[in-house]
Amino acid sequence: MLYKRLGRDGVEVSAIGLGTWEFGQTGAWGTGRIENYKRIVDYALDQGINFIDTAEGYGRSEEILGMILEGRRDNVILATKIGGYDWRYENMLKRLNKSLERLRTDYVDLYQIHWPKIKGRYGYKSDMEPRDYRDIQDSMERLQREGLIRFGGLSNFRLAHLKNFDQEAFRVIVTDQVPYNLLWRSYDRPEIAEFCRKCGLKLIAYSSLAQGLLTGKYDAGSELTMIQRANVLFNEPVYSRAMKVVEAVKTVAEEADATPAQVSLRWLIEKELTVTALVGIRRVEELEENIRATELNLTRDQLKMLEDASLSFWNGMPQNLELWLHDNSKETLEKLGVDSSAGYDI
Ligand SMILES: NC(=O)c1ccc[n+]([C@@H]2O[C@H](COP(=O)([O-])OP(=O)(O)OC[C@H]3O[C@@H](n4cnc5c(N)ncnc54)[C@H](OP(=O)(O)O)[C@@H]3O)[C@@H](O)[C@H]2O)c1
Repeated sequence: MLYKRLGRDGVEVSAIGLGTWEFGQTGAWGTGRIENYKRIVDYALDQGINFIDTAEGYGRSEEILGMILEGRRDNVILATKIGGYDWRYENMLKRLNKSLERLRTDYVDLYQIHWPKIKGRYGYKSDMEPRDYRDIQDSMERLQREGLIRFGGLSNFRLAHLKNFDQEAFRVIVTDQVPYNLLWRSYDRPEIAEFCRKCGLKLIAYSSLAQGLLTGKYDAGSELTMIQRANVLFNEPVYSRAMKVVEAVKTVAEEADATPAQVSLRWLIEKELTVTALVGIRRVEELEENIRATELNLTRDQLKMLEDASLSFWNGMPQNLELWLHDNSKETLEKLGVDSSAGYDI
């Protein structure tokens, strides 16, 4: 396993992290499923993965993880997220305590704010206000002093949000968890990199495989999940354009004697600001395959081929495009040619 450093103390985080959104989805308690998730976590830990991500909003994911990790929680850098928009200390403490109970532990390593306030998102009436930034900083600092969290983190915070924090906030806040992969590069911009370097902030990449699209297993006739249909990338005409990037990934994979998933993850691991690439896993075999990305060597030419295909796709996207259909305006989707009436929501 390859490890990268996080925070001022240089905590070592595995370059591949285990995402557990998938654990919480409907049917998680069905026959055999928990056993399956246990096998996945056991395998991950055996192979040196030490970073596991969940959220209070992922159905029963925290509860399932709590059961599975009982007795070995200290071997893991455990990250969870708080939803909603009330970041005053009393509320954060209350919500964190509930997460701790479900996770069967007395601290989390990384406590992340799942989403910033964004005007219009789910009908929300205002954007982040100065008071919100202060609340987040104060609460995180206090929870850290009390030993309930090791670090604070953000998720889905844009550069404009990051800039509104007091510089001191980045003593406790060490990460921003964002969508990042060969098909999604809205956070891969020089001004973000510059800001992150200055503040010691690292990115945690989510949807590292573009929700499976980069594994090469989808084509025009594939059946999609509700969550995939809510993702811009799985909607025409973007879907067909994205397939050109997938073709480039497949070519490199063949050359490198690897799989498309391994090639895509390796490209992401190479990025300086990515501290860990989260992969959502439902079968242990997928994890087995993905972990090998940490041993894969891609030549400079192969990385360039991936970069070129990725940028030629990404540079054609509107500047303000959001990953989820419902976060985009009708005009933005129409500009892309995506049917804005699809109405899928998650
Ligand atoms: N902060 C946020 O707002 C946010 C948002 C989204 C995700 N996340 C986090 O990031 C994690 C991962 O993101 P994600 O679930 O969106 O996407 P992802 O990791 O890009 O894709 C997950 C899907 O890819 C498929 N897959 C993985 N490895 C594979 C392989 N080797 N071969 C074939 N298929 C493979 C699996 O599909 P099948 O089910 O078909 O096997 C799996 O469900 C989540 O679990 C969650 O922890 C955070």
